[in-house]
Amino acid sequence: MKSLKNTREAILKASRSYYAHRAYYEDLLIQRQRRFADANERELNFLRYVFKADATRPIEKVLDVACGSGRHVLGLAKLGYECTGLDYTPERVRIAKERATQQGISVELMQGDATRLNYENEFDAVLALYVLFLLPDDDDVSKCLSLIYRSLRPGGILVCNVGNPFYEGKRWFSLKSIYEGLRVVEDRAPGIRSTEVVRLHDFDPMHGVAWWQETSTIETPEGIHIFRDRERLRLFTYWDIVHYLQLAGFKEIKCYPDWKTNTHKKTKAEMLVFVSRRD
Ligand SMILES: C[S@@+](CC[C@H](N)C(=O)[O-])C[C@H]1O[C@@H](n2cnc3c(N)ncnc32)[C@H](O)[C@@H]1O
Repeated sequence: MKSLKNTREAILKASRSYYAHRAYYEDLLIQRQRRFADANERELNFLRYVFKADATRPIEKVLDVACGSGRHVLGLAKLGYECTGLDYTPERVRIAKERATQQGISVELMQGDATRLNYENEFDAVLALYVLFLLPDDDDVSKCLSLIYRSLRPGGILVCNVGNPFYEGKRWFSLKSIYEGLRVVEDRAPGIRSTEVVRLHDFDPMHGVAWWQETSTIETPEGIHIFRDRERLRLFTYWDIVHYLQLAGFKEIKCYPDWKTNTHKKTKAEMLVFVSRRD
C-alpha cells in the first residue's frame, strides 16, 4: 500500500475536499431518508436529555464546533436554544446558513477550526460530534478539548463521540472494517441514490490511523456525479478519550454507548458518546 502524507496540511485539505463534495448530497439524504431522519431525532432527544441530566446549570447557549450542514445546531436552535455553529469546510457552513434562512431559524454560523476556538466562559453546552477522529494529531485533540473546556461555563457540559474500534458490525469504521478493507454503502431517498465504494488505502497499525479512498456515485434527476476523495480517520478506544478529557480538565465524565441513556446494560457499542462536565 502506498503511504500517504500525514502532514497536518495534507490531512486538513483532504478532509475539506471530502466534506465539500458531499455537503449538498449528504444534506439531501439527511432530509429525505428515514434512517438519517431517525438518527437525527434520536441524537437531538439524547442532547435534550443530557442537557437536563448532566449539566448543573440551565442550558441556554450552545456551541457546535464541527456543525457540518447543521443537523444538530439547527435542530437545537429550533427548540429555542441560543446556538452558534462553526465548521472547517465553508461549503457545509453555506448549506447550514441556507437551511437556517429557509426555515427562519436564528443561529450564528461561521467557518472555523475546532482546534483554534477563542471563547472563554461563554457556553452552557458544547458539541463536538463525529469530528475528533478527523483531527490531524494528538496535539489537535488535546488543544480542541482544552479550548472547549475553557469555553464552557462551570456546570456546563461537552458532548463528544467517537466510533468504537472494537465494534463488530458493518456500519462504522472499526478494526473489523480495516481488516476487511472494503465497504460498499448504498443509500436511496426520493430523487437521489448514492453509492460509495470505500477502500482502505493505507493503515498505520501503531497509531491506529487509516486513510480511506472513497468513490461516490450520486444519481439525481439532474445527472450523475462522481467524486473521488480520501479521508483519514483515527481510531480511539474508550480509555483514550477518557484520558484526553481528563487532560483537558474534565473530572465528571460519563459514557453513553450508542446514545443510550440506560448505561448499566451490557453493550456491543458502535458509537461511544461522552458527556463531560466542567466543575
Ligand atoms: C462527519 S462530519 C460531522 C458533522 C456534524 N457534527 C454532524 O454530526 O452532522 C465532520 C465534520 O467535521 C468538520 N471538520 C473537520 N475538521 C475540522 C476542524 N478542525 N474544525 C472544525 N470542523 C472540522 C468537517 O468539515 C465535517 O463537516
